[in-house]
Amino acid sequence: MDQRIEFVEQRKIAFELNGQATTCDIDPRVTLGDFLRHQLGKTGTHYGCEHGVCGACTVLVDGRSMRSCLQLCGQVDGRKVTTVEGLANTDGSLGILQQAFQDRHALQCGYCTPGMLTTLTEFLRTNPGPSEVEVRDAISGNICRCTGYQAIVEAALLAAARMRGEPDPVFGVVTAHSIESDSPSDSTVGARYVGKPVKRTEDPALLKGEGQFVDDIHLPGTLHCCFVRSSHAHARIKHVDKQAAEAVPGVRHVWTFAELDEAHRRPLPVLAPTHMLTEPRMWSPLASDEVCYVGEAIAVVLAESRYIAEDAANLVQIDYEVLPVASDITKIFDPDAPRAHSDVPTNLLLDMPFAFGDVDSAFARAAHVVKREIFHHRGTAHPMECRATLARLDGATGELTVWNSGQAPHLERRLLAQALGYDEAKIRVIMPDVGGAFGPKGIAYPEELVVASAALKLGVPVKWTEDRREHFLCITQERDQLWNLEMALDKDGKILGVRGSVVHDNGAYVPWGIVVPIIAVTSSLGPYVVPAFDVKLKVASTNMVPTTPVRGAGRPKAVFAMERMLDAAADQLGLARLEIRRRNFVQPDQLPYKTGLIFRDGSPMVYDSGDYPQTQEKAVELAGLDAFRARQEGAHAQQRYLGIGFANYVEGCGLGPYEGAEVTLQNDGRIHLDVGGAGAQGQGMKTIFAQIAADQLGVEMDAITVVVGDTSRLAMGIGTFASRITVNAGNAVHIACGKLAGKIRGLAAHALRVPLDQIEIVRGAARVRGQPDKALPLGQIARISYGIAGFTLPDGLDAGMTVTHYFSPRASVYANGTAFAEVEVDIGTGYVKVLRYGVAHDCGTVINPMLVEGQVIGAISHGIGNTLLERHGYDENAQPLATNFAEFLLPTALDMPSHIEMAHLVSPSPNNPLGVKGAGEGGTIPASAAIVSAIEDALSRWSIRFDETPVLPEMIFDRLHAAGAYSDAALDTP
Ligand code: FES
Ligand code: FES
Repeated sequence: MDQRIEFVEQRKIAFELNGQATTCDIDPRVTLGDFLRHQLGKTGTHYGCEHGVCGACTVLVDGRSMRSCLQLCGQVDGRKVTTVEGLANTDGSLGILQQAFQDRHALQCGYCTPGMLTTLTEFLRTNPGPSEVEVRDAISGNICRCTGYQAIVEAALLAAARMRGEPDPVFGVVTAHSIESDSPSDSTVGARYVGKPVKRTEDPALLKGEGQFVDDIHLPGTLHCCFVRSSHAHARIKHVDKQAAEAVPGVRHVWTFAELDEAHRRPLPVLAPTHMLTEPRMWSPLASDEVCYVGEAIAVVLAESRYIAEDAANLVQIDYEVLPVASDITKIFDPDAPRAHSDVPTNLLLDMPFAFGDVDSAFARAAHVVKREIFHHRGTAHPMECRATLARLDGATGELTVWNSGQAPHLERRLLAQALGYDEAKIRVIMPDVGGAFGPKGIAYPEELVVASAALKLGVPVKWTEDRREHFLCITQERDQLWNLEMALDKDGKILGVRGSVVHDNGAYVPWGIVVPIIAVTSSLGPYVVPAFDVKLKVASTNMVPTTPVRGAGRPKAVFAMERMLDAAADQLGLARLEIRRRNFVQPDQLPYKTGLIFRDGSPMVYDSGDYPQTQEKAVELAGLDAFRARQEGAHAQQRYLGIGFANYVEGCGLGPYEGAEVTLQNDGRIHLDVGGAGAQGQGMKTIFAQIAADQLGVEMDAITVVVGDTSRLAMGIGTFASRITVNAGNAVHIACGKLAGKIRGLAAHALRVPLDQIEIVRGAARVRGQPDKALPLGQIARISYGIAGFTLPDGLDAGMTVTHYFSPRASVYANGTAFAEVEVDIGTGYVKVLRYGVAHDCGTVINPMLVEGQVIGAISHGIGNTLLERHGYDENAQPLATNFAEFLLPTALDMPSHIEMAHLVSPSPNNPLGVKGAGEGGTIPASAAIVSAIEDALSRWSIRFDETPVLPEMIFDRLHAAGAYSDAALDTP
């Protein structure tokens, strides 16, 4: 391959940027987006795909929206460019559209937001009175992975109304419903902020393009990485020729495994190690002699710019010996099946039974037995920000600072320290703004190891920013599982037992051990009484991308399997699908309910609180089932096929072991709250923690500075995944701030000479009850507590006003919910439109209902995508079939129903003081089961079943064809 690199002369352009005349020297081959971001520092413009599909990079050129990833910078010569930084009012306050985004909670991670704002700015200028459908159409070229679009559409309509000078429109209403509970939750006692839809403190910066994502950070002298990746799924590396790449001007180094520092060649450690794995393999920073999936990194180019690094990487020649590929999980354990790694005797990583009760007897007694094979496809999270990492060594102190777009700063630090053999205390990991994560960013990757290793070896900053194609090839995936289940039922439809097997495709390496398949099997019981259970789990090694948790982490497959079995059982027994569920629910008076399995936290699964029958009834009410059936019948007469489906789930979450918080009352009376173990990716954690702290401390939220995603102050942390942060870190904040409040009151009582029980903290001061003028501002209390040099502190007082607390939950908590989906199937095209969707859910105490609703709706859109659009297919050679957003479809605003209905049921968990449970994944977990059930309902006249996801249009078309739906007679009959 003879690829020449041409360097083009710089030229000068003049244009207007956000109203300012600007003149620049440019390299004409640089894209407009890179030019704005990296040369002009307008980092509010983001890249999410680099191929013109996601819309994140949208800017206005002469008032028209343009994809800056597809424009060259020279094209703006003589024109007017507006970026998100130019949308705020001249006094710096938010513009009308930006303010509407904050008011409607229309942003989460904020990564897609600049593109949404610029797109809508043009749209609203030309369409001052748009309909909801027109807004959806306008943003259908902008992908948001967080919000599910509903709030963005509402924000646009709200802004349009305000621009017209009309009153704010009223949007859909969420119903709240409290379940009687005698749990010890103390979160709402005297709450001013907890439980309220408080606007997010994170939003203003993100809305003005002032967020700071890793790729936005520019350090002088940085070297940029590009990785050379395997084009084969399984091959031996015979030779790497890097001469041509090394000769490219601006290239500093081209390294293979052999050139890495000898101390940095260890494989990455397994995050959740277990002796049960038979032949676990982990990534090396670069492959040494064998590659085991397409995209595995073989070499790295370090150059003065990313452009040069990418060009040079194309010149690296690799000579492979291609090896047989292990990819078909239906034959993966055959004795003659190719091995995923050439040095292992088997692809079987784990063979583990999950059993309780007498299954043989259950099946012997059964009046009915239902049997199904159920498959859930691979997919991945696709946050709009791909991965990115930047490392810098401080030569004077030896401190290595790593900025990483991740979820778990302390875990990242620990894994880097282990793999690099570097003093953990000298590594600081910062996770600044993160543009979505949803699971796969929760681990350390080989590329991060290489970047940190290079920074240590070279003593200069080193950066790598993943592009979308790499993300398709390399970020971890999930969901490939094959379930073979049998269900035994009595004559009334009560479950007697479940047995069968699950094969889980773990991909080439085991970064998270086996947590996903274990969560999957244990979550399959759902909210049902299953007296006997015997399911054998086999975990397979394959030549595909490793699998780790993706939003829901095993639970969507489990729920899909159990709910498919119940639908099949209902059909076989002639029962309504809702009725069979009613007959099998764990009843409220059975709680706490021991399922019989050991959960992923290593403890018996004990459902803590909730009312499963009531949750389902609430969802039925939201769905308006009777009205739907009438609608369905009317549509049917016009040969339109509507269907409705329901699905239940229980989600074990809030997993330990702990999370910490350190809170300080400063001399100026402000509160500094460090929750550095929590990586934040759009959930609004700073807001939630500030709400909890403000209520405990009696201060306003704006008196609190919250730090998340930074290892510098807290010694320990775990990270944000498995819907665990509000439980672990939220309670740590609650308790730490409670203790600090106690210290404040103690000191105030001493200083004011009154008994402790007479002191209250109100609006930033400690005062004597009933005597508001007898008070000490908090700043004064802090100054007293820090003492005077040389003097003794008063008796009974500790030094300072800092409290650190680590909260360890005594057990996991179990959220639950019921989802319904109403769909229309176009039998002419196979297209499924989700017309309505709703969920009744219970995540315990709700700290901020607006944020919970945002999380749930976003997770629902993820579930809709998983069910109807998203497929990471591989061919028989394990070559990926989708490497861009044109081949792999994410849901757009047009794929979502116009409104998602929601009811909160609140049964606080007795397992933690706040009574909270997780909420970030519940929307995804039942979606496939509900939607597929609805599709079957729509097509019930042909008795078509789908026991796999995704259900793509061609599959529907083929099944209908096989069922004779397109025969003349069938088409004539309504
Ligand atoms: S459309 Fe330009 S980055 Fe995606
Ligand atoms: S807020 Fe849209 S991608 Fe995160």
